[in-house]
Amino acid sequence: MLHLPPEQQQGFYRYSPMGLKQRGPARLFAHIGEDGTLGYGLTRIYQNLIEQGRVSPPLSLLMQWIESTLQRIRQQLDKLSTLLADVEFLHSDWLNWSLPPGETFSSEYVRDRRKMGQILTSASKAAIAARLQDDSPFLIETRLSTLQKRQSLSPKDLASSSERQRLRFYAELEQRQRERPRVSLIHARDGELSDREFARQRLAGTNPMIVHRLREADRERLQPWATQDYALATGETVNLSEAVTQNRLFLADYPLFQDLTSTDLQLGRYVGNPQALFYRTEQGLYPVLIQLELGSNWITPTAAADDWMRAKLYTQAADMTHHELIDHLCNTHLSMEAFAIATSRQLPVGHPLYQLLRPHFRFLLAINTRGNTLLLAEDAAIEELLAPTREASVSLINQSYRERPFTDAAFPNDIAKRGLEPEYLPDFAYRDDAQLLWERSPPTSAATSSAITGMILPCCLIPTCKPGPQN
Ligand SMILES: [Fe+2]
Repeated sequence: MLHLPPEQQQGFYRYSPMGLKQRGPARLFAHIGEDGTLGYGLTRIYQNLIEQGRVSPPLSLLMQWIESTLQRIRQQLDKLSTLLADVEFLHSDWLNWSLPPGETFSSEYVRDRRKMGQILTSASKAAIAARLQDDSPFLIETRLSTLQKRQSLSPKDLASSSERQRLRFYAELEQRQRERPRVSLIHARDGELSDREFARQRLAGTNPMIVHRLREADRERLQPWATQDYALATGETVNLSEAVTQNRLFLADYPLFQDLTSTDLQLGRYVGNPQALFYRTEQGLYPVLIQLELGSNWITPTAAADDWMRAKLYTQAADMTHHELIDHLCNTHLSMEAFAIATSRQLPVGHPLYQLLRPHFRFLLAINTRGNTLLLAEDAAIEELLAPTREASVSLINQSYRERPFTDAAFPNDIAKRGLEPEYLPDFAYRDDAQLLWERSPPTSAATSSAITGMILPCCLIPTCKPGPQN
């Protein structure tokens, strides 16, 4: 049930010309997003009534109520998705409420889904109860152990309502033999976002495309920070001048965001241009300092726990925004469209270059078209989730596309430019996995081959990124 072959996954034949002859409920609705039976029915009824001029006040009120209820359900599902990110059933169409995997409503499907619904309902109820009364021995034990790990954080902070609810939600899942998200286990082990985890995510998280090594030529950049030595969470002390000579300093920065003005940002939201400096210890990268904006003060791991945590989260927010808009949407999905179209128009099917390129374009136009609606449309995901406005997001994508040299899309060029060769950064799974794929590419046109692999990799290495309904 959880690991269906691609041809049985929801939406598969919608994107596959080979599947056009297959029958199924989704044939009624050509596009993803229209296949929710209830939503589709309501929309059509409403449209028909409007067209016939038959929307009387009571009916119109009823439709508004239904619409706002659906909106509330969608928001609750968003919350659940956030809590359950990483959990196996989130990646297996479990939370896609529109159509079952395989697009057939079998009794087994209905039974399983009802069971999952019961588990999620009971976990949600437990979380609400935890907000009202915190008397669970599990919670007390967890909070005590977290407190021991984070001496500097006040018990008041630890007792935050959302944390209690989250922990109770996961406890209920585990009691019912469901796995809890791995990231939440890491956070519980380390006492939230530890320095080790913060650094790990720069290399093995969602976005391994930002961090780069500082070299002798970058000494000037280090100058403002190099007036003192820095203590790491490991207890080691770092001298920046020596560290750069030893090729142990790495930087994550987001200069694309430095020119954003208040009109580019949505009300109450912010994304900045932080610089996070890392040192490579024998155990891997650890953060040395974070400078929130150019010219501002910088914060170190020895600062007050809240300040340091906020600085890390500030960097996480910039990284997530950059990943979604630039590394994923622009450099992976959108940049490839021109190649997909030109290949089909200009190359004969038997051409070796066509054969080389074709597999990389499978589903590309379909998913990009869908992305235009689900991500970039008004009130869609970009506007709902990110700080920049939709207009600013699109102009960031354009700016980044124009400024990026074509040759940077090649994987070896990217690694060399960022100075992330194995001798400087031994533990970097993204590079090592990508290298294997690169070496499998036929040695035809180096430039084209480079572009393909370089652009495809950031997306395809993300396990959740697939041309199905969950992407
Ligand atoms: Fe993707």
